[in-house]
Formats: sequence, C-alpha cells, structure tokens
Amino acid sequence: MKLCMIGTGYVGLVSGVCFADLGNDVICVDKDYNKIENLKKGVVPIYEPGLEELVLKNHKNKRLNFSTDLSESVKKSDIIFICVGTPTKKNSNSADLTQVYSAGKEISKSINKFKIIINKSTVPVATGDKLEKIINKSVNKKYFSVVSNPEFLREGEAIRDFIYPDRVVVGSNNKKATKILRNLYSPLVSKGAKFVSTNRRAAELIKYASNAFLATKITFINEIANLCEKIDVNIEDISIGIGLDKRIGSRFLRAGPAYGGSCFPKDTKAIVSTADKFKTNLSVIKSVIKSNKIRSDLLLKRVNLIMKNKINNKTISFLGVTFKANTDDMRDSSSLKLIPYLSKKGAKIKYYDPTGFKKEFENLKNTEFSNSINEAIKGSDLVIIHTEWNDFKSINFKKYSKNKKLIIYDMRNIFSPSKIKKLGLKYYGIGC
Ligand code: UGA
Repeated sequence: MKLCMIGTGYVGLVSGVCFADLGNDVICVDKDYNKIENLKKGVVPIYEPGLEELVLKNHKNKRLNFSTDLSESVKKSDIIFICVGTPTKKNSNSADLTQVYSAGKEISKSINKFKIIINKSTVPVATGDKLEKIINKSVNKKYFSVVSNPEFLREGEAIRDFIYPDRVVVGSNNKKATKILRNLYSPLVSKGAKFVSTNRRAAELIKYASNAFLATKITFINEIANLCEKIDVNIEDISIGIGLDKRIGSRFLRAGPAYGGSCFPKDTKAIVSTADKFKTNLSVIKSVIKSNKIRSDLLLKRVNLIMKNKINNKTISFLGVTFKANTDDMRDSSSLKLIPYLSKKGAKIKYYDPTGFKKEFENLKNTEFSNSINEAIKGSDLVIIHTEWNDFKSINFKKYSKNKKLIIYDMRNIFSPSKIKKLGLKYYGIGC
C-alpha cells in the first residue's frame, strides 16, 4: 500500500520505517528541511535501538522515502497518517491540537481521490470529529474517511512494540476504511496481535485510558514501596506476589523514581482535562498525578536520611539521568528535580549516561559529566542508580569495596541487596 506519514518525530518515523519494512511504499514528510536531508543520508534524529539500520535498509530498497512536500506526498498516497505533536497547552492541562488541525487543512488541499486519513497522534475524544469537519469544508465526505489508530510504542522498545503489538486499535465510522486497515495490519495480526475495531471516539479514549492506567499501576506500586521501606518488606516480593495473579499482571509493577517521559505526565493531565469538560471527575487519575508529583520529594527525603543530612561537600554520582533506560530523552525525567536540588545543597555531582552529556545540567553548580561508569563511581560518597541500563547491571562493586564510605542507592532495584551488603557496602533500594 502507498502510505504517507506526516511528522517524522518518534511515532511517525518509527511507524513509517516499520510499515516500509512490512513491504509498503512509505513517504515520511516533515517541514524541517535539514531533518529530511539527514534522514535521506540515514542520519536518524532520535536515539532508538535498531532504527538507523531499518531506515538505511528500507531507504536503500526504495520502499522508504523522505520529503518536505506534503501536497505531492498526499497525492501519491492512499493512506495518510497524522503523527504530529500534541503537547500540553501553556497555562492549561489540555492538549494543544494546533498541529493536528493544520495538518488536516493541508491534507484537504491535496485530496485527488479517496484517502484514509489516520490520526496516530494522541488526541482527546472527538478530535477526529473536528478533523473531519475541517477537511469536509473543502472536500466531499465520499472522498475521505478520518480514522483513529493510536500507537502503543515505548521509547527504547518501539520497533519491537510495533512488530509484536498486543493489539492494533482501529476506530473508524466507515466499513471500507476498517477493511483496508485490517489488510494493512494483517502481517501483525497473523503473528498474534488482536485487531480491535471500535468507533472513532472509543479508539481515541483507549489511548488515553491505557496510558492513565499504566501510570496508575506504577504509582500504586510506588506507594506500596513507600510502605515496604517502613516495615522491612521487599517490594520485589510484593510485585511478584501480586503480579502472578493474571487479573493484575506482572508488567509495569516495577517500583522506581517518579514516572516521566513525554507521554504519561502529559496524557494523565489531558484525560483529566477532557473529563472535566464533560463534567466527569476522574479522581483516581487526579491523585495519581499528585502522588507522582511529590515522589521526587520523597526520594530526596530518603537521600537526606541515608546521608544523615550531610549533603554539603559530598560527592554524589548518578548512573543514568534520562527518564528510563534505552533512550536519550530527558523529558520529565526525575533527575531534573533530584540533581538541581542536591547541587543546591552543596553536593558535588558527577553523572554518567550511556547517551552522553546533558545540556540540562550544564549551568548547574558543581555538576559534571563523567566519561565512564568507573569515573563516576570512583571517589563517590553516594552512587544513585537512576535508570536500568544493562551497562549498569554488570557493575562489579567488589572493585569499589575498599571505599567503605561508599553508599549505593539503587532506584531501579537492579542489584541484590544481600550481595552488595556482603561486600561491606551500604545499600538502599526502592521499597526495601
Ligand atoms: C508509554 C507507554 O508505555 C506506551 O505504550 C505509549 O505508546 C507511550 O507512552 C506513548 O504514549 O507514546 P514511554 O513513555 O516510552 O511509553 O515509556 P514507558 O516504558 O511506558 O515508561 C514510562 C515511565 O514509567 C518511565 O519513567 C519508566 O521508568 C516508568 N516505569 C515503567 C516504572 O517506573 N515502572 C514500570 O514498571 C514501568
């Protein structure tokens, strides 16, 4: 099939590349000339394992093309995916849909035969209705159909998530469009993915409700971890013990720092804002947002406790500063709260991240990037394991055990407390 992806951000680029790899002809469109020229050379603007190889492979075999010409690309395609950003509005919790609607207007100028226009961006319920109205101002409804097809890709795992999804959700009020999409996704469905066909509004809500539910699950286990710390119970036992109940499920039950990234914080706020508009109180999600907001303060309180309130002049190292492993994304990472606080309190901060130096910390007092894990740990009073990169799992702390003052605060529980303690080092985890 001939596809056009509007927006080469995270969702548009990963989905476009994967669709090309499944044998479709894909044009990825973006207004940013430099980005498009770089992509043509195989230079990928985001850190995502495996993506560059797939871009190069599919561009070489001509199934994947890049363009700044939206009009021509739409004319050549049967299915157009809108994959633009929907950030939180300034001074409000609702989603800013300017880019979605302006993409709709642009597309409407180039509809020369029946087109399926798919919204893959995360949008509030009824955005599809408005998009349809915008396009319908200049195009008869028989020439287009607006569909919602949300994505469930995790940063760092996006290619795997695209190829092996649990489900594909298609929200459409048009049978012909649903049939075409069933066909487009058939290679994934034949590998076991469930095809969930709903009306358009339901698909829009499935996306927000999924992210809000996952954020709730994480917040729930984080709060239980707070309790575990007071009663000599290890949260890992609780996660296993409850997760094995199929009604609960074991995934997304890892206690850790506050959840972050470009999705959960934004989408939990947006679903509450949508519900407010429809006079519905989503009290559970509201308290999830609140609990996550104060989580970093709780972790800092524990750092103070671990350090016996002596932070000034202590060397504190962070291993990993992004919002999770396998990404270079700093958006809403809890390190953005933890590091400035500790630096202000007079600590000397060293941080190492496999994705390199972070400009977010360049103007902070006494804060420097270390070139290696070893450089970060050497001479430290406290090592905070902030993300769960595989590189950190193989650290041999025996090497550092001569430094008896060294304390480890493992915010991802990747080490066994008893093994580290056997080395004579002080170890703290989350919920243990
Ligand atoms: C999330 C969803 O998982 C995707 O399904 C969705 O498509 C995406 O948002 C989106 O809306 O675009 P992502 O933000 O990439 O994906 O990252 P996650 O792996 O979900 O992690 C989010 C946050 O939760 C991270 O801070 C992570 O460290 C934290 N987390 C996750 C935990 O603390 N514990 C867990 O068990 C899982």
